[in-house]
Amino acid sequence: MAVPKSDYLSNVWANGIFANRVLFITGGAGTIGSAQTRALVHLGADACIIGRNVKKTEAAAEEIAKVRNGARVIGIGGVDVRDFESLKAAADRCVKELGAIDYVVAGAAGNFVAPISALSPNAFKTVMEIDTIGTFNTIKATIPYLVESASRNPNPNPSGFTGGRFLSVSATFHYTGMPLQAHVSAAKAAIDSLMASVALEYGPLGLTANCVAPGAIEGTEGMERLASNLVTAADKTRGVPAGRWGSVRDIADATVFVLSDAGNYVNGTTVVVDGAGWRRQGGLEVGLDPGMRYPDFLLSGEVSRNLKHGRNAKL
Ligand code: COA
Repeated sequence: MAVPKSDYLSNVWANGIFANRVLFITGGAGTIGSAQTRALVHLGADACIIGRNVKKTEAAAEEIAKVRNGARVIGIGGVDVRDFESLKAAADRCVKELGAIDYVVAGAAGNFVAPISALSPNAFKTVMEIDTIGTFNTIKATIPYLVESASRNPNPNPSGFTGGRFLSVSATFHYTGMPLQAHVSAAKAAIDSLMASVALEYGPLGLTANCVAPGAIEGTEGMERLASNLVTAADKTRGVPAGRWGSVRDIADATVFVLSDAGNYVNGTTVVVDGAGWRRQGGLEVGLDPGMRYPDFLLSGEVSRNLKHGRNAKL
């Protein structure tokens, strides 16, 4: 069934603002990534989505292409962002088949709930490799194309079209620190720092590089991994100042803003889209059932047994 536009894009954007532009996105078949891709494709872009799972990535590309007549969306599966060569080959193929890379979204990420006591060195390294090294590999594989795009699309461009933009999907855990998320907090902090470096080194060539930092987003694989399935609607309302979890559309809209002509002077920073959730990070605790309190769960050695992908219930 086709995804309704209202699920991935608000009504404020004009059709065609990304016409003849190409998005290259890692993690583009994921819940947030596919909404970001749908939004850009709806507004005129073609896209190349990259993922590890061949079937899932190709199926997502086929579905997303349906949002606009004539849209070209290629799904390149079997690519792990930890493997620079396969990522580079995917970027080259994107340019060969779609003509350019104007926007990059680095969205591939890995996560699970685990305290440091249950994080093996390899577990920590795995998330650092997917998130941080994966983002660095994505930068290296695509930046020459973004430099070309920026030279075709001066900032600001009298035509209103843009190019040469990099956006990473970050998080907010590292602003305060978050128990059970040492690995992801370290990885995302490094991604914020990488985007600052790209902005500083490539800003003079016309590029922008930013992060979008989602808070708790409804219906995502991320929240399925992080939140106990005993968390109720009332817990969500209490946990976030905005009174709700976010939607994938909230993240897609922020993505459109940063990559569009409206985002020309946003560079080297993070757009936080979390309903002010990080300001009371304890309001919605990762990996805990309702009623589990800090630091009691650490001292008793219990985390939620109601996590979709959790397996280390004992600390
Ligand atoms: N708790 C503790 N350690 C865990 C874990 C968990 N829930 N899940 C995996 N690990 C450890 C493994 O035990 C292994 O360490 P070891 O060799 O010392 O035993 C290490 O992490 C790597 O796991 P492996 O399954 O081999 O890695 P992978 O590359 O196949 O998968 C993950 C990477 C673990 C991040 C996996 O969860 C994944 O593929 N995630 C992608 C999707 C995702 O996380 N989306 C949400 C984004 S917010």
